[in-house]
Amino acid sequence: MGHSPTQDAHDILTEAARVLILTGAGMSAPSGIPTFRGPDGMWHNFRPEELATPEAFARDPLLVWRWYGWRRELIAQCQPNAGHVALARWMSRHDGVTLVTQNVDGLHERAAKEIGSADPIRLHGSIFRVRCTECGTESGHQEAVDASTEDTLPRCEACGGLLRPAVVWFGEQLPFDALSQASDAAREADACLVIGTSGAVYPAAGLAHEAVSSGAPLIVVDPGETAYDGMADVRLVGSADEVVPEIVDELGARPSAAKAATPPCR
Ligand code: OAD
Repeated sequence: MGHSPTQDAHDILTEAARVLILTGAGMSAPSGIPTFRGPDGMWHNFRPEELATPEAFARDPLLVWRWYGWRRELIAQCQPNAGHVALARWMSRHDGVTLVTQNVDGLHERAAKEIGSADPIRLHGSIFRVRCTECGTESGHQEAVDASTEDTLPRCEACGGLLRPAVVWFGEQLPFDALSQASDAAREADACLVIGTSGAVYPAAGLAHEAVSSGAPLIVVDPGETAYDGMADVRLVGSADEVVPEIVDELGARPSAAKAATPPCR
């Protein structure tokens, strides 16, 4: 190992042909989006079971839509931070990196679009998509939500049913394809980088455990304590927008595992 945790993290990532990155709300905290848990977390003021469950939506769709409308407006004013950009740049140079996010804010996607890198695997959906509670049709939905009365809430163009945010709520299944792709990447990873997640919500949190069980060293970037601290090989205590560029900016183009396995031409 090197002389500093930053150097250690850098060395692990330099060696790795395949890397799993798992991000949570802390990734977007420096962009101005509140996290869920902890003293400044969103759930401090709102009880999740009152807002982020299918039962809550069935009981009081207006309240739930007001909360999501408020979050959407907040997020729309925020920009990807230096951490999002550094990850997107690294991914554009290294096709062995798989980015998996629990975030619904779309900031990784916005950075990826700017840089021209691959989109993240989204485990918890998108706050800017909607799904019909009647016919299940899903679509993008960027416009402001008028949550003044139940009659003004967004309705499905196909069947007139009430639309809901296309995010995963407590008690709901994660999208099967996203979870299975993420799980494959976790098992194949040579290193795992976890950024800004408390590690409290499963099955997302379990992906880092899968990677570690398969032998990947674990690097955790977080200014606070997380459920992963005891199993981390390297802990970088700091903010995602500062620490992430420090560790990934200098990582160069690496051959993908498939290309590396091809014998050189003679
Ligand atoms: P949490 O709120 O549980 O955890 C946020 C983490 O970010 C904590 O460990 C903080 O210490 C850390 N953090 C705060 N500021 C940071 C910064 N500047 N840089 C880096 N890290 C920072 O959020 P998640 O772990 O993402 O689910 O929560 C997981 C899921 O719970 C969310 O996806 C959401 C919620 O219910 C759904 O929406 C389904």
